[in-house]
Amino acid sequence: MITTVLFSACIFAYGPHGYAWGQEADQYDVKNLHQKFPKTAMHPAFHCPDMKPSPTVPTSVEFVKPADIKVIAALGDSLTTALAANGSSILSLPFEFRHVSWSIGGYGSYDDAITLANILKLFNPMLLGPAPTWTIKGYPASINETGFNFAVTGHNSLV
Ligand SMILES: *[C@@H]1O[C@H](CO)[C@@H](O)[C@H](O)[C@H]1NC(C)=O
Ligand SMILES: *[C@@H]1O[C@H](CO)[C@@H](O)[C@H](O)[C@H]1NC(C)=O
Repeated sequence: MITTVLFSACIFAYGPHGYAWGQEADQYDVKNLHQKFPKTAMHPAFHCPDMKPSPTVPTSVEFVKPADIKVIAALGDSLTTALAANGSSILSLPFEFRHVSWSIGGYGSYDDAITLANILKLFNPMLLGPAPTWTIKGYPASINETGFNFAVTGHNSLV
């Protein structure tokens, strides 16, 4: 929640730089819809006027800046394990593409995959926890593979 708020603050800060969402949509064409990760950058460089951490560790959440965040972790289900997220057929269903999960995927950098974790890495390259790679549904995976993406495909809060 906190990170979401901070992130929103930066998106708003970023707005006045003149980027129009419509321009991005125009760059997509039908052919690109079939490419998982188009080679050309589809998004502009990330700008935030203040990328620095606080001079001292903040004592109140309202003063936490994105660069102050040192660790990221996630719980969840297949939305967070990113089940089949980079797949192109039903054969990809067993694969959890944790490294491109919207919240905690750590694949490459912001230029490769826009995830919350990759955005936070722009503020703090030492961020601990982004998921580095994919895993297979139902098979034990080490923390080297999952990072702090502790989501489990199929889990819910009712059992
Ligand atoms: C996604 O799938 C494409 C096509 O199979 C592959 O080239 C690319 O490396 C994959 N990306 C990730 C992040 O797994
Ligand atoms: C995780 O990576 C570290 C460093 O490369 C290695 O020493 C360790 O054995 C790995 N652990 C597992 C469970 O793969």
